[in-house]
Amino acid sequence: MTEFTPETLIQQALEARKQAYAPYSRYRVGAAVLCEDGTVVTGCNVENASYPATICAERVALTSAVAQGKRTFVALAVATATGGSPCGICRQVMAELGPDMVVYISDAVGNFRATTVAELLPDSFTGEQLL
Ligand code: THU
Repeated sequence: MTEFTPETLIQQALEARKQAYAPYSRYRVGAAVLCEDGTVVTGCNVENASYPATICAERVALTSAVAQGKRTFVALAVATATGGSPCGICRQVMAELGPDMVVYISDAVGNFRATTVAELLPDSFTGEQLL
């Protein structure tokens, strides 16, 4: 477990980005999610020749964390070449699993901005609407 700062979480997202499997887009993405218990779970994008089968780095990190028994998430860092913003599907998954997360969006050299899931996906569809 590493002491949390935005920079350390971003560094882990940058490390995860090295594992990206992105032979089609060449857009490599890494993500690192900080769990409530202090552990960090990482992910990278994994593309597929059948393009819609591709999964984004943020969803790999979050779903891996859930598979490891984690349920509460504090922060998520995502790293791309250009500091690109998370896609809509990932925002929806963040709203489901980590609605209170701070999100750090970094470029390839660690320049970042901080935002929140609420800012990224206001007025989101949630399980409450299914009741
Ligand atoms: N991608 C992510 O991993 N996260 C995002 O939030 C945006 C898109 C990936 C999916 C695909 O492998 C590549 O970036 C180009 O869309």
